[in-house]
Amino acid sequence: MKNIIAASILSADFSNLAGAIKECEKAGVDWIHIDVMDGHFVPNLTMGPFIVETCKRITNLPLDCHLMVEKPESLIKSFVDAGADYLTIHPENNPNVLRTLGLIRNYGIKAGVAINPGTSHLVLEPMISFVDMVLVMSVNPGFSGQSFLPEMSKKVVDVACLIHGEEHEIRLEVDGGINAKTILSMQQAGADTFVSASAIFNHPAGIAAGVDALKRKLI
Ligand code: DX5
Ligand code: ZN
Repeated sequence: MKNIIAASILSADFSNLAGAIKECEKAGVDWIHIDVMDGHFVPNLTMGPFIVETCKRITNLPLDCHLMVEKPESLIKSFVDAGADYLTIHPENNPNVLRTLGLIRNYGIKAGVAINPGTSHLVLEPMISFVDMVLVMSVNPGFSGQSFLPEMSKKVVDVACLIHGEEHEIRLEVDGGINAKTILSMQQAGADTFVSASAIFNHPAGIAAGVDALKRKLI
């Protein structure tokens, strides 16, 4: 499966969001990752459908929306209308996760499920046939710039085993602390989709250098 680099705009300079996204495009970023946080599921408050709609006007790159929110079901339609291409939800605190995943797919877009570092990969088993992507969090969600949790490599291996042999394509995404030092270990564990915020937007030599440093590590 093709490797995907997804730039998380959580670390972008919002005073020039269009410029930052255009630079990502030129640097060969594959997707734009949008971290939606509600101040309840995670202790931070970030972006909503309005920013997704803004990104849609800036770029044709797929918009990978990561919903770290309580009760995502009531928000799905507004993110679809705003132009999301992937909508990834968390099973923690969602007793109706299969219904939410079905709702996302019924809108004709891709559905993903994300698990926090403290959540076992075993919860994914009943969800696998309902998803197009599994996201393994390699930090506790809420903020960019946190340190990678190396213990999550084992979980990526376990998820890779779980999705191996499925008839439909399922991407394995990792998110949190992905940088030039950690990306290869995650690829070797089985990940194919790599989210990065600070390693791209805070690279001292700029966005293109940040993207290049990641891509050069991939096999
Ligand atoms: C964390 C978010 C991540 C975050 C990654 O809660 O889901 O997407 O922006 O940031 P870095 O790459 O800086 O760890
Ligand atoms: Zn994310």
